[in-house]
Parts: sequence; structure tokens; C-alpha cells
Amino acid sequence: MGACINSDSKSEMKKKADEIVRKLTLDEKIGMIHGVQLFQTKGVERLGISPLRMSDGPMGVRNEFEPAHWKTIGYSDDYVTYLPCNSALASTWNRELAKTTGSVLGEEARGRGKDVILAPGVNIKRSPLCGRNFEYFSEDPYLTGELASAYIQGVQQWDVAACVKHFAANNQETERLWVDVEIDESVLRDIYLPAFYDAVKKGGSYTIMGAYNKLYGEHCCQSDFLLRKVLREEWGYDGVVISDWGAVHDTEKAANSELDIEMSVTPDFDDYFLANPLKQKIEADEIDEKVIDEKVARILILMMRLHMLDGKRKTGAYNTPEHRKAALEVARESVVLLKNEDHRLPLCKEKLHRVLLVGENAECIHSNGGGSAEIKALYEISPLMGLKMHLGGNVEVAYTPGYCREEKQEETGANWQEKSLEGGGGATKEAAQISRELAKKRQELREKAVRLAKEYETVIYVGGLNHDHDSEGNDRKDMKLPYEQDELIRELLTVKPDMIVVLIGGSPVEMGAWIDQAKTLVWGWYAGMEGGNALAEVLLGEVNPSGKLPETFYKTHTDCSAHALGEFPGGKTVAYKEGRYVGYRYNEKFGVEPQFPFGFGLSYTTFAYRDMETDPENRQIRCYVKNTGSVDGSETVQVYRLAKDGEDAPVKELMGFEKVFLKAGEEKQVCVAVEDLTPDRAYVIGSSLTDIRLS
Ligand code: BGC
Repeated sequence: MGACINSDSKSEMKKKADEIVRKLTLDEKIGMIHGVQLFQTKGVERLGISPLRMSDGPMGVRNEFEPAHWKTIGYSDDYVTYLPCNSALASTWNRELAKTTGSVLGEEARGRGKDVILAPGVNIKRSPLCGRNFEYFSEDPYLTGELASAYIQGVQQWDVAACVKHFAANNQETERLWVDVEIDESVLRDIYLPAFYDAVKKGGSYTIMGAYNKLYGEHCCQSDFLLRKVLREEWGYDGVVISDWGAVHDTEKAANSELDIEMSVTPDFDDYFLANPLKQKIEADEIDEKVIDEKVARILILMMRLHMLDGKRKTGAYNTPEHRKAALEVARESVVLLKNEDHRLPLCKEKLHRVLLVGENAECIHSNGGGSAEIKALYEISPLMGLKMHLGGNVEVAYTPGYCREEKQEETGANWQEKSLEGGGGATKEAAQISRELAKKRQELREKAVRLAKEYETVIYVGGLNHDHDSEGNDRKDMKLPYEQDELIRELLTVKPDMIVVLIGGSPVEMGAWIDQAKTLVWGWYAGMEGGNALAEVLLGEVNPSGKLPETFYKTHTDCSAHALGEFPGGKTVAYKEGRYVGYRYNEKFGVEPQFPFGFGLSYTTFAYRDMETDPENRQIRCYVKNTGSVDGSETVQVYRLAKDGEDAPVKELMGFEKVFLKAGEEKQVCVAVEDLTPDRAYVIGSSLTDIRLS
């Protein structure tokens, strides 16, 4: 199991690593523990030690940059499989698909000649406004840990290291380089650390990335508490700790901490804290060379684990048809049906003649945005293309944007990542100033869309967010739909009350302005290269939706505990005053009604539950689930533990889940593994957090 391999081979590897270390010069060792290119350390040619080559994930293997500049080289050979984002993956509640996703990423990374893929991101979604939420799984530690550990096992089958990130409490982009997280240690351990623990212990992640932010006054990449006490001593982690790019601030602290490799965004590689400044301190006897030897030994063990030193390494492959199939399967299961009054969906293909798609997300390409998660997708099927491909030439499928974005700022020539260490590293996105021309243009687009909507039999709205909003380096200011979409949707629903509403985004948006008016709502995340196909299949009933929300969809951001009780984004410090009442843990306790609750998602069929059995001996809770409708479908059975009477604890906490496929009319017994099952606690089974079926 990953980094937790048996102790014999571990001690043999350590012995071998120590032997190699003894042969290395100080310069050679220093070369191995810091970036000498933006994504690469230095190898030692004379001993056959190659550099460590890294690349970003998580939605695919990132394109190639020049070694010292954030300038894309523009090769034609670095287009890759574009995978659904982690929020989409989390919506599937499917461990197998998480493993498959990791496996595709690992095989592609190896195929592209990489050693470390900088994924997955497992930070807990503390606020819906965090700009990187689309890269993360959930507000729930258990769901995150289960899926992330399967994903990591998938990656590492290919002799590529996963790099679980960003350790720890990296829950916002505003002031991300300097913000100091103030959090009760027990809350840190209960909510924010478990997914990392699972990634390391269950997933066996060979590497881990230290976060930018501070925790208890110290930068995470130099934190004795986080890296030595928790990671190495308590969790017994023997893998490699890599800094986030530019997250190291002090030579002595970093050298003496459990950090192994310093990476950054600037081209002054020799001046990195763990480069010349470290060499000088070692030569002046201010830092013991032994601490470097330990780091190098761990890097060598990593190389042994990846078969980099014995010539027995897997080759990998990218852009295979199987990878595209996997991307489609994940996309299909990630779509969440949130509203479906009068069985408006699925649409009957045979009855469709003239269909109008409104909204820029019908044809928007998302793969090339979002920050370090951007990739060069081999292709990306938009919703418009997906529907056209499925409906064929006898159906007229028209498109009108209905809204438009703000004009792009003029490009300065420098990549955002090159400038990412400036001004705290991130900010809250301010509302864009709208010029009179833009306001006029939007009005014209809106009027045109409303006019056309009256003429078409079937209207499908495809709006939501894009990576101008869901993006590294910025948090959203609020949850409002941008580009005056609320007005547009309202006007469209007035003339077309049965309009299908599809929203695409990496984080929830306010819907209060029109949700009661809409009969349908389909939520699609950034769902990868096959996203448009998957959406079309769901809308046309070729696929029965089975996605469930991995996070609360609040009515507005101030309903979320980080805003209501705590601070977000804070200032130089940010106090997590909400404690363990994060996400649904807060809503239930404090009576907040969300727009859509955690774990929620509809199907085109219905499921009946019966006969709950608790089996503490086998750590299992079982029940029977029957598909009581007329179409095949999948249900995710969710097990929650109840708080004890009067206990200061969340009302319910997710402790287990199992997804089951049932043919129409079929019934199966579902066994849900509950690792922490204790006889003195009460458990309930639900189809979502609030739709409890058995107790
Ligand atoms: C991000 C990391 C990423 C690294 C390298 C940083 O800005 O926080 O997630 O892996 O850049 O691109």
C-alpha cells in the first residue's frame, strides 16, 4: 500500500538510499532538493539519478512550459485527456470511478514522462466562495478521504507519484501566501486533516505538498507541528514533502523542518532558500548536513518506489480511447439533477424538432482556465456540440448567447503564475465595472434570447460560472450569478415556463431570483472533455442521473458558517470560529435551510428502502434498496451517525456510503462499510442528508 510498504523492503531501500547519499557531493545533494527548473529538480548523471519531473493536475497533465519561464512552449504533442474536476468526481460518490480517474491521470503523466503529478487537491470546502473549490472534493472529510485515497492508488499504479495538496488548512485564495489560520487543534484534526491522513495512510501517497498559508503563526512548509509532529511522528509518513511553488520563506527553518523539496515560480533557482543560501549555511556549520542527507534519502526512496533506478518502470500512455471512455463515464455520473417538476426531464428525442440553447456555457471551453489546473485538452465537447451530436440533422438546434462576459483585461505578456507571489498571492474578486456599451450589449443579447425563446418549442438554458470565477488566486465576493443571468433566466422563464435550466460551475450560485419559477435544474460541473456528451445523454434520458451533491448548495454565502460564525476571508489572520460546524454540520445544528442539501440529487426513477441492520462485529450497516420506477438507475445509500442527546456535536455526520446500480424493479441488499461503527451510537440511512429513510 503505497508509502506504507512492508518494513523489510523499506529498511532495505533506506540502506540503499544511505549508500547512494554517501557517494553524493554537497552540490549534488542540494541540486536534488530544490527546483532547477519550474517543474524539475536536478539529477546526478554520473550515478544514473535522473531529475524529478513534475506536472500539475488534477484535470489532466498540464502543458509544457519553458524551463525557466511561465511561457507555454506551444508544442503540438502535449494535448491530453481532460478529466472532470474533483468536485464532479465527488458528485459520483463512486470509489471505482475515483480510482479510474487517478489511473487515467497516472498513466497519462507517465506517458508524458512525468514522475510526480501534483494532485489531488483535498482541502475541505469551508466556504462556497473559495476560488479553488472546483479542484477540491467536498465539505465532508469522510467523502473526500474515501475518494482521494482511491484516486491516489489509481495514479500510483503507473509508477508515478501522486502529490496530495495543499497541507493544510488552505481554504481560501485571498492572501493565500500569508494568511495565518487560527483554528482549534481538535477541529483541525477532526475536519481539516482526516482527508490528508486517508490520502497518506489508505492511499499511500508517495508525496505531499505543503500549503502556502500559515498555521499557528508558522508557514505550513516550515511548520514543525504539521510536518514533524503530525505527519512524520503521528502518521509515520516516510514519503517526500514538496513545497507549494513559492511557499518557503526561511532557509534554516525549511532545512530543519521535514520539508524535502523546495519549488517556486521564479527563475532565480540558485537563490532558492534550499539552494545556495543553504549551501553557505552548511559550509559555515550553521546547519547540519545530516538534515539534507535525510531529505535526499527520502527522495531516493521515492525514486525506488517509482522504479526510476532499476529500469523496471511502466511506460504509460496518453490520449488513449480508454481514457476518453473513462472521462465520459465519470462525467455521466457527475451530473446532478436538482429539480424535475412534472417529469419535465428527460426530453423525448422523438418529439424534438426545434431546440434553442441559450447561455454562453452552451459553447464555452473551460479546460484552458482555472489557474494551475488548466490543461490543453485534446478536445472538449461543449453542451451545444453534445446535443447536436446526439440529436442529428433532422432536429434544428440553434444557439444564442443571451449574455456576455466583461471584456478581458489587456494581457501584459507575463503569465499569472510568474506574478503569483505578489500582493499576498491572491485576492477577492471585485465586481467588474460595466461600461455603458457592455450594459447595452447585454440588453440586446437578452432581448434577442427572449424573442427567440418564444419561437422555439424547446428551450434549454446553459449558464452558470466559468474559470473567470472558479479560479486559483481569487475568491468570489458572493454567490451571485454573473453577467446579469438572474434577469435573463427570469425573463426566459416568463415566456417559456417549461425551459430546462442547466448550470455549469465549480461552486454553487444563488438561485433565489428564479428557482421557484423553474421546473427543472440540472447541475453540471466542469465535466471534462466528454462533458457535453454526458449532459446530452442525461437530458435525453439515455443516462439516468445519479450524481449527489458533495457539498451544501446554500441560498446565499452568508448562510455558510465560515461567514455566519467565523471569518472569511479574514485579514492577516483568519479565525475558524465556526469550529467543527462546517458545511452541513452547521446547517442542521443551527437550523439553516439550504437551497439544496448535502448528498442530494434526483433520479428518473425512485428507490424504496427497507430493513436496516447494524452489524458492529463486521463494521457494516445493511439495508435493502429497491428500484421502484420504470427505468434502471443508481442510488447512493448514505449512512450518518447521530449526535447523542445534548452533545455539542453536529446533528449528523457521514460515516459510510455505497452506490448501487438497480435495474427497474430490482431489489438488492446494500452493505455499507462503517469503519468507526460503535454499538453505543445511533445511525440512520438516507438518500441524502435530509431524506432519511431508515433509522
Ligand atoms: C499551486 C499548486 C500548483 C503549483 C505548481 C501553485 O500556484 O498552488 O497547486 O501545483 O502552483 O503549478
